[in-house]
Amino acid sequence: MESSRFAIISFSLTLLLSVSWATANNSSLLECLESHSEPSNPISAVSYTPGNSSYSSVLQSYIRNLRFNESTTRKPQLILTALHVSHIQAAIVCSKIHGLQMKIRSGGHDYEGVSYVSDVPFFILDMFNFRSINVSIENETAWVQVGAILGEVYYRIAEKSNVHGFPAGVCPTVGVGGHFSGGGYGNMMRKYGLSVDNIIDAQIIDVNGRILDRASMGEDLFWAITGGGGSSFGVVLAYQIKLVQVPSTVTVFRVPRTYEENLTNIVYRYQQIAENLPDEIFIRMTLDVVNSSVRTGAKTNRATFLTLYLGDSVKLLSLMNETFPELGLMQSDCTEMSWVESVLYWTNFPTGTPVNVLLSRVPQVLTHLKRKSDYLKNPIPKQGLEFIFKRMIELESVALAFNPYGGRMAEIPPSEKPFPHRAGNLAKIQYAANWNENGVEAAEKYINLTRKLYAYTTPFVSKSPREAFLNYRDLDLGINHNGRNSYLEGAVYGIKYFKNNFNRLVKIKTKADPDNFFRNEQSIPVFPSRRR
Ligand SMILES: Cc1cc2nc3c(=O)[nH]c(=O)nc-3n(C[C@H](O)[C@H](O)[C@H](O)COP(=O)(O)OP(=O)(O)OC[C@H]3O[C@@H](n4cnc5c(N)ncnc54)[C@H](O)[C@@H]3O)c2cc1C
Ligand SMILES: *[C@@H]1O[C@H](CO)[C@@H](O)[C@H](O)[C@H]1NC(C)=O
Ligand SMILES: *[C@@H]1O[C@H](CO)[C@@H](O)[C@H](O)[C@H]1NC(C)=O
Ligand SMILES: *[C@@H]1O[C@H](CO)[C@@H](O)[C@H](O)[C@H]1NC(C)=O
Ligand SMILES: *[C@@H]1O[C@H](CO)[C@@H](O)[C@H](O)[C@H]1NC(C)=O
Ligand SMILES: *[C@@H]1O[C@H](CO)[C@@H](O)[C@H](O)[C@H]1NC(C)=O
Ligand SMILES: *[C@@H]1O[C@H](CO)[C@@H](O)[C@H](O)[C@H]1NC(C)=O
Ligand SMILES: *[C@@H]1O[C@H](CO)[C@@H](O)[C@H](O)[C@H]1NC(C)=O
Ligand SMILES: *[C@@H]1O[C@H](CO)[C@@H](O)[C@H](O)[C@H]1NC(C)=O
Ligand SMILES: *[C@@H]1O[C@H](CO)[C@@H](O)[C@H](O)[C@H]1NC(C)=O
Ligand SMILES: *[C@@H]1O[C@H](CO)[C@@H](O)[C@H](O)[C@H]1NC(C)=O
Repeated sequence: MESSRFAIISFSLTLLLSVSWATANNSSLLECLESHSEPSNPISAVSYTPGNSSYSSVLQSYIRNLRFNESTTRKPQLILTALHVSHIQAAIVCSKIHGLQMKIRSGGHDYEGVSYVSDVPFFILDMFNFRSINVSIENETAWVQVGAILGEVYYRIAEKSNVHGFPAGVCPTVGVGGHFSGGGYGNMMRKYGLSVDNIIDAQIIDVNGRILDRASMGEDLFWAITGGGGSSFGVVLAYQIKLVQVPSTVTVFRVPRTYEENLTNIVYRYQQIAENLPDEIFIRMTLDVVNSSVRTGAKTNRATFLTLYLGDSVKLLSLMNETFPELGLMQSDCTEMSWVESVLYWTNFPTGTPVNVLLSRVPQVLTHLKRKSDYLKNPIPKQGLEFIFKRMIELESVALAFNPYGGRMAEIPPSEKPFPHRAGNLAKIQYAANWNENGVEAAEKYINLTRKLYAYTTPFVSKSPREAFLNYRDLDLGINHNGRNSYLEGAVYGIKYFKNNFNRLVKIKTKADPDNFFRNEQSIPVFPSRRR
């Protein structure tokens, strides 16, 4: 209840204040940037203020949640599309001088728009121009700048080798900057862990404008920016990743089953096996509601099992026959392809789509959306599943996605990276509502649906804390109001995202950024003793 009140208060504040903030004094920040940049790399050529005719299109080109593409959404006083490190250094200096919050945006996929919306006056440091990718197959490594998108990373690896890949997210337009700094998971997580489990070096600009690599920033700060979220600690410029091996042929399938097809038993069995399967197999299960009769509009529950297997279809079929016969998988459900083609399959491109579509920065679908997350420790009993199915029919427009853990994820100690959700988890659950209507009322309606389903599932998921995944940003979990530095407010969401790693993050933050320059609605606070 507390969280829904926050959202309503912030909705009305948006209405009251957006106009005055968008038109606040903007020339002074620009002047400051100009006076702090190098003449050889002019900063005015990459600065967009609200009066500029390109301002709106620059702002919108990386808004990936249409909930924040409204006239009432708070707008930045300036967008700096940095081309050179001196632009970033000037942005940090001038942000301090003007007391104006700096939001860092790479791919813009933050579910709550935290990279490009704020509840205080702000400007955007936009990193999409920092997008080079240098792959070395010889060394099985790559340097990847933060403005690259995952599709580009996959394409540039596959261009050089069909037996290498990288374990990261499923959606190709997600940006490296937010994704890697927040953990990053995908369908090779059970074999190779998270993206951050395969990062070997990084480059950041710290609060004093220094460019640091892993050796000069030290192991603590490197640990923090590989899962603790970059935006609390500095501006990440690039990550060096360790490539992983993939077979030249992988197998995929996507199999739907409705309630009438013995769904309760299939879903129950899935929860028992998905986490114990060989590491090479990853089965995502999505639960939603569909029309069973187009004529009458009668609704039913559906589960869709979407799979990547790092091997051929013969082995996959016998494995599934042995461990998950309830699904009734057939040879005709399975398709063999290269690993990079499986990236396209997983994100719903039609068979035969050229692989270079991965270089496109235009998302396949753009909608208004809300996401929440949970962790499953024990199988939901059959009566529990029946209860959830009934409630989902009532709510209709909200889906649940289960991403199985186990394998490599269970071998990595929870303190290895800020991301703490390792052994003991069967799956991560995502709550998802998408809608097409503009406006606050529609948003409230669909956000309410996700909150209701989240309330219904309470008995079946992790407790004390009810754990959450940072990259599935959810401001319902708590907010540091007005970007201020409250340790107590920070601990509310911090413990859910990071569990016992939260205090280490606060310690590192206090040392790296004692004045809390790098802050947002859910950043890591500094220790209370350092508060001003
Ligand atoms: C369609 C879609 C699919 C997704 N699929 C997956 C998935 O399969 N697996 C998964 O793990 N996640 C997934 N996500 C979540 C995604 O990983 C996170 O939203 C991630 O933070 C996005 O990174 P970004 O650079 O695009 O986002 P941004 O919105 O640009 O940034 C997100 C956060 O990171 C900060 N940040 C960005 N760049 C930098 C930088 N250079 N230095 C410091 N801080 C920075 C921002 O300030 C913000 O706080 C998905 C999201 C969407 C919208
Ligand atoms: C904008 O800021 C500059 C520098 O701080 C100041 O000189 C100027 O008067 C301000 N303009 C307005 C309209 O507030
Ligand atoms: C908008 O800003 C860009 C980048 O600074 C600049 O190149 C362009 O001339 C500006 N356009 C207008 C109409 O002011
Ligand atoms: C500042 O914003 C106002 C109002 O949006 C706009 O008219 C003006 O051109 C902007 N100033 C600069 C220097 O871009
Ligand atoms: C975002 O809003 C603008 C202004 O209303 C609109 O022109 C644009 O089409 C919207 N973007 C998308 C992807 O719908
Ligand atoms: C591979 O690693 C070696 C040793 O660190 C280095 O000298 C070389 O430049 C690297 N090659 C590439 C292409 O990065
Ligand atoms: C990739 O190599 C080019 C050319 O050497 C260099 O300019 C660029 O900075 C490199 N990118 C990264 C992310 O290291
Ligand atoms: C449904 O699943 C149960 C348990 O797996 C099984 O015993 C039963 O035979 C199945 N029923 C049908 C109709 O397939
Ligand atoms: C289901 O059918 C009803 C009635 O025909 C229709 O209004 C609704 O949009 C349909 N829903 C879906 C998900 O197709
Ligand atoms: C599945 O297993 C059953 C017995 O356990 C066997 O009879 C059948 O041939 C197997 N099918 C496949 C495709 O492996
Ligand atoms: C959303 O839920 C809140 C709190 O339960 C309620 O006050 C509000 O009317 C709901 N809004 C919509 C549009 O359903």
